[in-house]
Amino acid sequence: MSLIEKLNWRYATKKFDKTKKLSPLQLEELLHAVHLSPAATGVQSYKVIVVEDAATRAKLQQAAYGQAQVADASQLIVFAAETNLDTQYVKNFIDHVAKTRGIDRANLAGYEQMINGNINGMTEQQRIAWAKEQAHIALGVLLTSAAELGIDACPMGGFSAPQFDEILGLKEKGLTTAVIAAIGFRAEDDAYGKLKKVRKPEEEMFIHI
Ligand SMILES: Cc1cc2nc3c(=O)[nH]c(=O)nc-3n(C[C@H](O)[C@H](O)[C@H](O)COP(=O)(O)O)c2cc1C
Repeated sequence: MSLIEKLNWRYATKKFDKTKKLSPLQLEELLHAVHLSPAATGVQSYKVIVVEDAATRAKLQQAAYGQAQVADASQLIVFAAETNLDTQYVKNFIDHVAKTRGIDRANLAGYEQMINGNINGMTEQQRIAWAKEQAHIALGVLLTSAAELGIDACPMGGFSAPQFDEILGLKEKGLTTAVIAAIGFRAEDDAYGKLKKVRKPEEEMFIHI
């Protein structure tokens, strides 16, 4: 299949085949792809939680308006934004850049200053919203990568973030739930899999200047 055929193949899966699980290799590859997601200023201001435990997922399903995908999919992926973005967080990031690229840390002072300026110019709420934006980019990478790998997924925003945070113990980790995705394999009788894609006409979406 071409890329466009794969993107047409994928859909927000409502009914997963409970008997089908991702192989460890499929999960690993999908997570590797998510790990490579780009982020503004390079700061990956979120963590990705892979939930397999059935009892936890039963609780999360209740916190997601009973949506079956949460419990029935192979795994539930929770993208959780950092709530403590501060100069220490940025310092750790810059240390990591210096080490990874073998750069003298002093040469990254301007970069560090730019990121701190960006973060310090925001209110706490804006910082969390910014961190959540980065998590949504990772969600996009997950959806496209899953399609490439022949894995089904359902992106989901229909859940109570405070309840998710509580169930997963995220507050103490300095995290809050941004968005989630169920991953696995579609049930043959998922009616949504047979529906035509609805997208606005390309001429309404794209502006060429
Ligand atoms: C951020 C986001 C949140 C979504 N939340 C839900 C959700 O809670 N439950 C659900 O069944 N689908 C959810 N969807 C799926 C969309 O409804 C779906 O992607 C859209 O209708 C386009 O259809 P397609 O993905 O099947 O092509 C969400 C999609 C996105 C991108």
